[in-house]
Amino acid sequence: MNLISDEALQPFDLILFGATGDLSVRSLLPAFYFRLREGSFPDDGQVIGAARSDYTDESFRAWVDEAVRPYIPDDQFEPEMWQRFLARIQYLPLDVTTQDDYDELGRRLAGREEHARVFYLSVAPSLFGAITDGVHAAGLITANSRVALEKPLGRDEATAEEINDRLAKVFEERQIFRIDHYLGKETVQNLLALRFGNSFFEPLWRSELIDDVQITIAEDLGVDGRGAFYDQTGALRDMVQNHLLQLLVIIAMEPPVNISADAVRDEKIKVLRALKPLTGVNAIKNSVRGQYTAGAYDSGPVPGYRDNDDIPDDSTTETFVALRAEIGSWRWSGVPFFLRTGKRLPGKHTEIIVNFKKVPHEIFPTADGFATPNQLVIRLQPEESIRMRIYVKAWGDDIQLQPVNLNLDFNDVFRKRRMIAYERLLLDIVRGNQTLFMRRDEVAAAWHWIDPIRQAWEQYEYAPVPYEAGSWGPADARALISRDGLKWNEQ
Ligand code: BG6
Repeated sequence: MNLISDEALQPFDLILFGATGDLSVRSLLPAFYFRLREGSFPDDGQVIGAARSDYTDESFRAWVDEAVRPYIPDDQFEPEMWQRFLARIQYLPLDVTTQDDYDELGRRLAGREEHARVFYLSVAPSLFGAITDGVHAAGLITANSRVALEKPLGRDEATAEEINDRLAKVFEERQIFRIDHYLGKETVQNLLALRFGNSFFEPLWRSELIDDVQITIAEDLGVDGRGAFYDQTGALRDMVQNHLLQLLVIIAMEPPVNISADAVRDEKIKVLRALKPLTGVNAIKNSVRGQYTAGAYDSGPVPGYRDNDDIPDDSTTETFVALRAEIGSWRWSGVPFFLRTGKRLPGKHTEIIVNFKKVPHEIFPTADGFATPNQLVIRLQPEESIRMRIYVKAWGDDIQLQPVNLNLDFNDVFRKRRMIAYERLLLDIVRGNQTLFMRRDEVAAAWHWIDPIRQAWEQYEYAPVPYEAGSWGPADARALISRDGLKWNEQ
């Protein structure tokens, strides 16, 4: 499947606002290096880092050399490529509220109006408006310009709409790239390939045959170094509104008529709109909030969430959420979708489990009494794999069934470096392909479903339940799923 056009990348200028920030260092600048190394960085492509620090081109390159280099694995580091990459980077000291600075940017970009021009806003959402107004006032928005924005887009539906209104004053929707980096992950795109490139899944993909779906994004990381941001955000806004809902939507959407941006997004939004609202007591009944306390891993003890210096001692921000959702549609009526995410869980572990129904009439004896029916496990992290659990007769005298896995490990199949999500997304932004980006109405619909859950937590004063770092979260999350006679995968 080809989600992107084959045409070579056009010459581009990418202005990276927030160039000295964490995302830029860990993901964006490394992604550019990988693209250059793989030959998909046109000769006339450049990145202009823009931030408040007072670097020159040369001192910024020296800083990148030091700060970004550790994020390139040694086996992928080629000194000569690295130098070529550094040579493509410029720097502009810029205060987002100073118009002269945008005028200076304009001087740098003069004569390059035909290039794809990308304004990449890797900054706090509160600065989006100042930047878009600044580049607009300096006359920098060409027909071939785009703006890329990092999540979270707003804090709720109303603030997201404010941001979107402000963007819409200076950019057309076709120029706006709202990023959810999960959509850049290979396995997420493979989910589309699996569902819509194979004929045998589609007939099974419905409530008559699927019992339940479980989606987990677990992290062993805490919030170290990001406390100030995280405490204002929490897991519901940080992970559920975007990443978890995007995974749910891709599992649940109807087949699009083609792979174009609008055809895909038209189907995605129907799922978001069909999610049954979780409001009031119903939201409390179908959600679990948790916050980690101190605990230990093999590598040693870790502090609790509130023990971080930048977190208030009485913080009630959740670091764990579990939800039971339902989609009101013919295809999915009655199928529970369980969503779970948390910091300081046992490991980095992202997976989607589709549990099929039991056979309607059992004729074979099994060791486990058929307690565990067929299951499809799509694993995104740490490794990317697809596993299908089927039953076979175990070799031997007895006719007794035993579950075995059909395994597809993408590392074994492709035996090459896996692109990081931002490489794909950066390529698509320069190419102007919006399939893997969120449309305005999609963001609004996601908030529309999330907001009442948060409001119910406030209304019923539902404070997060403590869980020990290194555990699978509060026991209440197990209780939530066991009401349907189910269990989470906790391996
Ligand atoms: C980000 C969240 O969007 O996704 C982080 O803000 C989280 O809190 C990260 O750690 C997880 O992304 P990944 O790709 O490492 O699973």
